[in-house]
Order: sequence, then structure tokens, then C-alpha cells
Amino acid sequence: MSHSNFLQEIMRRRTFAIISHPDAGKTTITEKMLSLRQQNIYIYDKGKKHDTKSQIKSDWMQIEKQRGISITTSVIQFLYRGIIINLLDTPGHNDFSEDTYRTLTAVDCCLLVIDATKGIESRTRQLIKVTRLRNTPIITFMNKLDREIYDPIKLLDLVENELKITCVPITWPISYGKEFKGVYHLYNDETYLYTSKHYKEILEDMYVVKGLYNPKLDKVIGIDLAKELRNTIAIMKGVLPDFDKNMFLNGKITPVFFGSAMCNFGVNHVLDSFIPWAPIPLPRNTKTRTVESKENKFTGFIFKIQANMDLKHRDRIAFMRVVSGIYNKGMKLYQVRTGKNIIVSDALIFMASNRFQITKAYPGDIIGLHNHGTIQIGDTFTQGENLQFINIPNFAPELFRRVLLCNPFNQKKLVKGLIQLSEEGAIQVFRPLNTNAIIIGAIGILQFEVVIVRLKTEYNIDIIYESVSISAIRWIECNDVKKFIEFKNKNESNLALDANCNLAYIAPTMVNLSLIQERYPDVIFRNISDH
Ligand code: G4P
Repeated sequence: MSHSNFLQEIMRRRTFAIISHPDAGKTTITEKMLSLRQQNIYIYDKGKKHDTKSQIKSDWMQIEKQRGISITTSVIQFLYRGIIINLLDTPGHNDFSEDTYRTLTAVDCCLLVIDATKGIESRTRQLIKVTRLRNTPIITFMNKLDREIYDPIKLLDLVENELKITCVPITWPISYGKEFKGVYHLYNDETYLYTSKHYKEILEDMYVVKGLYNPKLDKVIGIDLAKELRNTIAIMKGVLPDFDKNMFLNGKITPVFFGSAMCNFGVNHVLDSFIPWAPIPLPRNTKTRTVESKENKFTGFIFKIQANMDLKHRDRIAFMRVVSGIYNKGMKLYQVRTGKNIIVSDALIFMASNRFQITKAYPGDIIGLHNHGTIQIGDTFTQGENLQFINIPNFAPELFRRVLLCNPFNQKKLVKGLIQLSEEGAIQVFRPLNTNAIIIGAIGILQFEVVIVRLKTEYNIDIIYESVSISAIRWIECNDVKKFIEFKNKNESNLALDANCNLAYIAPTMVNLSLIQERYPDVIFRNISDH
């Protein structure tokens, strides 16, 4: 492939995540986006087509269905107006912030969905905090306009005050709830009318009125609403800043759209603006240099591992963000951490729960590699260069349980299952050096329940938990070999190995942790094992 064709492939890719509080409408928007997509992207292997509407629900795991929440991050690729969009769904529940954090390292932009009947909710605040750490560009969609919502001006105020980002409305709603008439697009000077047709998702027939002062507008939305709209827009144009792409790309302003995902109204407005505005695949930093997407040599990093995605396949998939170069089926990739080369001939892309083998992938794409226990979150793959992408952390867990088997003969199977689940990064497994206990640690309480269900359904193991008096676990290291040996000898009963055999210190109390840190100043105690 010529360099200019390669650059074109980069230019036509966008990679983003949808973030929201649970129930704001993330899944519905994803479904509607997929219903708007063009079919069949050329990079699939011949004969392996994706495509039925029943496959598009992205909340795919059994447990998610039971609980009605997204637990894991789903990855979906689709084509819209000639642009290949890689969409990452993020878990909506509070407990899964770590997985979400890592997912956000793999995207270049976020779509924030707000339930306009509820305003800013707790989870939205947390997610925005994470995106603000990297100034990720954010597009905002105010959803559920077919219901009684907060006053739109109040919604913008809430976003500005609580999320500390300036709002620039791109569309503006004309009433809401039963009276919802549609939205006015401030930059296209067009009104898109909301009709019952949207329930049938017939976008071609969408009724457009050109020009804010077009008398037709008075006829279709009524004289009073038309007058009110003109006044509001005139005031807004006087006080609000214009949309500025650079300020958006630097995370300083967020363009705001209004609509109803359920009625498929407004989702296309977002996508249509997203294409020219959202960044093309961005560079990523390594410990030694910045890698640009247009570099010829392939590089990528693993941000997520998912075990047993498909019980029929019983395998583990490592999700990789391609940073530079081209993945070609059958190519040799260098796994920097292990120093080994692997031949990759079966990389996958995903369409909700369906997977398709691909022959090529480009910067911005998210591909799945089959993992036989050798790939870890944070791993960098290159074509030989010693690079390590940074900022893909493993946070120290804050909650701990001891795992007890209902059938003690399953010990080996249990360890295997737990280590596989821990590779996904949602829980961490620790084995104390001087007992047979197995401790699992998590950031959120729901993970413990998820482990019980998944061990049962995926490994046929029954477990129960016992509480343990652990307040914190810290990964430890020391440059002074003699001092480290002395530390280890004195504190053996507090030492454990994690799933990757890294040594960790188990602190029964936070006071104990402070004392031990004071007593051994040469030992480094880390609460993040950063890659
Ligand atoms: P999530 O992924 O962010 O958690 O939210 P999801 O899309 O599952 O939507 C949560 C609920 O809100 C769903 O209702 C969904 O139908 C509804 N919803 C989404 N968008 C809109 C909208 O624009 N208007 C209205 N009125 N409702 C919307 P549910 O009853 O929980 O589930 P379902 O039975 O409808 O699937």
C-alpha cells in the first residue's frame, strides 16, 4: 500500500467512547448509530459478513442481561458516510471505574450522554473527571427530549458549573415531552422536525425547514413557538461563544446536541458533526518517545482483556488499540515485555457479540488478539522496536475477600479461573507466601458478586467469601538487594504474590502501612502498577 493510501485510511477513522450514567441511553444510542450505519466494511475476511439487527445490542454478557447494566467494555466497528468508526462502550456502573479508565486510554474522543430529565448524575461527574485528566474532546448529547426534561438553559448551566466545561449548543430544542417539535441547528440554519415517523426510523423523510425566519416554520411549529425560538436563538447568539474546533479538540468546550435516542431523533446530527470535528487517530506516548499514527511501522497496546467472551469459543481476547502502521494478517509482532515474536494470523474485530477475522487494521482500530495467558493489560506490540506505551494503570484494589471453595478438590481449577478473570483487570488475585489462602481484591463491591457468577457459569466452580482484615495492598520493590532481603525476612507473613508473580505487601491497617513505610524508607510501596 502506498503511503498516501495509508494516510487516507488514517484520515477516515474515528475512535470514541460513549460515557454516561446508567440508564441515560448509552445502549439505545449505540443501537441507533448501528441502525444508521452503512453495511459491510471491506476489511472483513471474505465470506464472514456481519449484520443482523438482532446482533446489535452491545450489552452482551449473560450477567449484564440479568442485571441490566453493562459490565464490560464492548467494542464495535461500523461505517458511516465513508468513515470507519470504532465505538467503545464503557461500563455504566460505579464499580467498574478501572476498566473504564483504561478504555478511555484507547479512544480519541468521547460522547457524553445526559438524561435531560435528570441532569448531571454521579457517574457522569466521575467519568468527566477522568476525561479531563487528558483533555479528551467531549461531544454532549442531551437525551430523552420526548419526556419532561429540565429547562435546556438550566441543563447547559449544570454542565458548565458541575463539569467545568463551556457548552456550545449546536442544536436547540423546540419544546419537549408531548409538545416536542424538533431542533433548530444553529450552524446549518435549519430546523429538523420531529414527527412520529422517527419511530419508524425513516430518516430520508425527515422534515427540514430551511432558515430560522422562514414563514413555513410558523406554520409547522406554531406562531408562538417560532417566536420563542427566534428570540432564544438571538439571545444565545449574542452571549454564547461560537463553536471553535481547536477549543473542542483541547477539551475546552463541548458542542451540545438535543434529541431522543429512543425515537432515533438527533443521533444522526451528532454523527454528522462528529465526522468533521472528532480527531483522526491521535499519537500516543511511550516511555521513550511519542508514536505518531502515520508512522509506517506497526505499534499497538493492550488496554483490556476479556475471558470467555463467547462460551462456545472458551477463549480469552486481548483488545489492542492500533497506534501506528498497518496490521496485516499473518504478520510477526514483537511483544516488548516478553521479548518474544508472535505470528498473528487471526486478529478480530467486533460487532457486539460477533467477531470477524480481519486481513488488515489501521491506526485507531481496536482489534482482538487470542490470548493464551501470555498477553497482559498494558503490553506493547511493535515490529521490533523497544517501546512501552504508558498510562495504562492497574490500580491497587481497595476491598478484599478470602475465597473459600465449596468443593476443596477444585483448588487448581479455581486458581486458573481466578487468574484468567484477573487478567481482565477487574479483580486482582493475591496468594500469601506462607498460607494456602487465596485473596481477591477489587475496586468495587459488585465485582465480588460477578466473580461468583462467572466462576459458576464459566468454570463450574462454587465459592463463598470470608472477610479478611486487609486495608490495603501495595506492590513493593527496592533497589538495595540486602535491605530488601531483610525486609522480606522480617515481614514474610505480610507478603503475597499477585497473578503475575509480582511481590506485594498486605497491610492489615492503614496505620500498619504508614509504620512499615517509615521503618523501611528504601522500599518502594506502589498503589498503581503502571505499565
Ligand atoms: P444505558 O445503556 O445508558 O444504561 O441506557 P439504555 O440505553 O439501556 O436506556 C435506559 C432506558 O431509557 C431504557 O428504558 C431506554 O428505552 C430508555 N431510553 C433511552 N433513550 C430514551 C429516549 O430518548 N426517550 C425515552 N423516553 N426513553 C429512552 P427501559 O425501560 O429501562 O428499557 P427498555 O425496555 O426500553 O429497553
